[in-house]
Amino acid sequence: MSVHKNIKKVTTHVLNEMKLKGEKIAMLTAYDYSMAKIIDQSGIDVILVGDSASNVMAGYDSTLPITLNEMIYHASSVVRAVKRSLVVVDMPFGSYQGNSKEALSTAIRIMKETGAHAVKMEGGEEVLESVKRIISAGIPVMGHLGLTPQSIHKFGTYVVRARDEAEAEKLKKDAILLQNAGCFSIVLEKIPSKLATQVTNSLSIPVIGIGAGAGVDGQVLVIHDMLGITQEFSPRFLRRYHNLYQEIKGATEAYIKDIKNREFPNEKEQY
Ligand code: KIV
Repeated sequence: MSVHKNIKKVTTHVLNEMKLKGEKIAMLTAYDYSMAKIIDQSGIDVILVGDSASNVMAGYDSTLPITLNEMIYHASSVVRAVKRSLVVVDMPFGSYQGNSKEALSTAIRIMKETGAHAVKMEGGEEVLESVKRIISAGIPVMGHLGLTPQSIHKFGTYVVRARDEAEAEKLKKDAILLQNAGCFSIVLEKIPSKLATQVTNSLSIPVIGIGAGAGVDGQVLVIHDMLGITQEFSPRFLRRYHNLYQEIKGATEAYIKDIKNREFPNEKEQY
């Protein structure tokens, strides 16, 4: 029997149950009320208010510029729309790497001011103290390993991570550390599927993949990529379920044409 079909409210415990029963977890990003309402009503398990908002909503070329106040604005808009999904919010770059006290204040602001259910942080051992402090305050934390876009200037590129032995070993160690620290789940981004499957099998908490193959417990995509609103971003792992760019462009062109031709509004569309 599917856990997903019968659940009225997804919690971290529900995700654990899904892992135990072998039911895959479906996660998508959202950054605004209207989109969050549609995907919540479609039955998505987890909504991530990702710092990818920096790229797809604000037009920056990395996730680094988005601020805590901006993340809070996006997250509170999403939470107002959601009835069923678990809402996880990315802690933005610079808001938790400094020290664990600052990290806790960031997480508390997110929980208090947005009503979200959990936060997500990038990194392993380097951020462990902050992860532990936040969890000890009763705030659920999702980890994020592999390609961690907030470290783009360290990596220098968005290519697949942990292909070499040393990085793969560190990733496996970090995953265990995050689980032992109390993380309820981990995202693995853009790593070899064999490694992702190994990590998934070694953990009791759910592992959500993006570009990490099919052996993980669930999948996440950025909604603008999955709906085909973004055009230029085409990594191998991305499956586009629609070409919304063309749909929106076509509708806009039709609207412009109707106005120019004096066909909108017609008799029935006025008072
Ligand atoms: O910010 C984001 O959208 C993310 C996902 C790609 C996992 O972190």
